[in-house]
Amino acid sequence: MTRDEPPAYALLPTPDGSRTAFNARYGEAYGSRHGAAAQARHVFVEGTGTHWHPAPRVLEIGFGVGVNFRATLADTAARGTALHYRAYEFDPAPREVLRAVAEGGQGAEHPAWAALLAAWPETGGAQGEVEVEAGGVRVTVTFADVLAADLPRDWATALYLDGFSPSRNPEVWTPDFVARLAGALAPGGVLGTYSAAGHVRRALAAAGLRAERRPGAPGKRECLRAVRDVESGAWEVEEGPL
Ligand SMILES: C[S@@+](CC[C@H](N)C(=O)[O-])C[C@H]1O[C@@H](n2cnc3c(N)ncnc32)[C@H](O)[C@@H]1O
Repeated sequence: MTRDEPPAYALLPTPDGSRTAFNARYGEAYGSRHGAAAQARHVFVEGTGTHWHPAPRVLEIGFGVGVNFRATLADTAARGTALHYRAYEFDPAPREVLRAVAEGGQGAEHPAWAALLAAWPETGGAQGEVEVEAGGVRVTVTFADVLAADLPRDWATALYLDGFSPSRNPEVWTPDFVARLAGALAPGGVLGTYSAAGHVRRALAAAGLRAERRPGAPGKRECLRAVRDVESGAWEVEEGPL
């Protein structure tokens, strides 16, 4: 990087006191500028019902700087439940970025976060995977393009679909990929995403999920959850203003 180039990652404080980071390559923040921890809790942890599940198995696309993971960790630790978390990330940020985003935040004191940070590639940009187990939590982050990955089948009680926006990161929002994600959900499993776009909702319904709009996290009117019913088939999508 020359002196005049912007940094690849910039720390971004948000109004709820949590942080996210800005990714210069995508020209987007990893999480909501209106409250990164609030979005993680509302859209992903509560949106998928993970906050009451007795033994959540979470699949995340993509891991980013770990805000959703720490929100989930904080929730399961407070409830004394085990957590199995699998995530994909094809462009891991350097360890220092994850550490600085998390400092003093929820889940940052948990032994699983400390172990994950210790195993995390120092300069980012790695391939392969990291897997750690600590304090009742097992977490695996696979550093690969999720489009080419063998996803688990019928496994996830919760799926966090958290790519960059559909306009900048369209490949993780296509009907074909969303259909593959639906197959990774266990019966009764729930997918949560911050997007409320009509094409995302239609892709979820076409994949046989019961897609519902719900109020959004701070700064967004709506977000989506989509349930894999025990008996699932294609669902009609209610046409709305979005
Ligand atoms: C909005 S950010 C995720 C933020 C993250 N969930 C958090 O809590 O910090 C989107 C992430 O998805 C990753 N990503 C996008 N497309 C991907 C792909 N095809 N395979 C794997 N990771 C991908 C990006 O590199 C980025 O880190």
